[in-house]
Amino acid sequence: MPAHVINGKELVSSIREEIRSDAAALTAEGNQPGLVVVIVGEDPASQVYVRNKAKACDDVGIYSEVHRLPEQTTQEELIALIHTFNKNSKINGILVQSPLPKHINEETVVDEIDPAKDVDCFHPVNVGNLMIGKDGMKPCTPHGVIEILKRTGVQIAGKHAVVVGRSNIVGKPMAMLLLREHATVTVVHSRTPNMEEITKQADILVSAVGKANFIKTHHVKPGAVVIDVGINRNAEGKVTGDVDFEEVKEVASTITPVPGVVGPMTITMLLRNTVDAASRAAR
Ligand code: GUN
Repeated sequence: MPAHVINGKELVSSIREEIRSDAAALTAEGNQPGLVVVIVGEDPASQVYVRNKAKACDDVGIYSEVHRLPEQTTQEELIALIHTFNKNSKINGILVQSPLPKHINEETVVDEIDPAKDVDCFHPVNVGNLMIGKDGMKPCTPHGVIEILKRTGVQIAGKHAVVVGRSNIVGKPMAMLLLREHATVTVVHSRTPNMEEITKQADILVSAVGKANFIKTHHVKPGAVVIDVGINRNAEGKVTGDVDFEEVKEVASTITPVPGVVGPMTITMLLRNTVDAASRAAR
């Protein structure tokens, strides 16, 4: 039987409704949540992402500002701007769109964001809090994956979750959040020999490798839940995931299509983090 294909629109719209209601309550107390997005340079994909983030803020009643800085902006200028946002009480979330131009060190810049406003959850303080299970910021993409699993009724506790990829943005924090939900977690990556022997044991398989059609039927246990975090462009410029959807949907029990689920959920979790940061600031 072909897999249940998760409907991203329904999921996102119900979560956005909750966020809209929380944002309205804060706004009514004079604490409207606010997000600032900073983009340096002209990367075309980033321009689209940034526009979508601002639109999403409008959709749920979050105040937003987009600061577009020229390619030649210095690291010092960018950091000085971040310091103004750290002090600005109207701003609860600061997102510096990646990639940055080569002359700017992303880690140095992220270190300058007030951890309480670090809605990407990239600051070492927030990464550390995540590791020890302290409540607070959660990284948007992995948090979105957990919400997808929970809201589609997938049991996580006691299951074997295999994460493919070990990036700081997805793979590593994904493993940590799954562990917090009491899964048994294995991380596999480009240096893992015979990867399919491990992925084939997964009850929940999360792929974040960035290679189109990388996950094939032989990587997947029949009946597994398959979450595709990949956003890849094929030769015609069409967006595709890491998972060979057409073949894997025949063996998985549940699967996320790309585009349509993990991407919109990531933006939705950014909105969630911004509203939660505003709520903590108002306390
Ligand atoms: N570039 C692509 N996705 C993201 C994201 O989620 N956060 C930031 N800061 N940059 C990105």
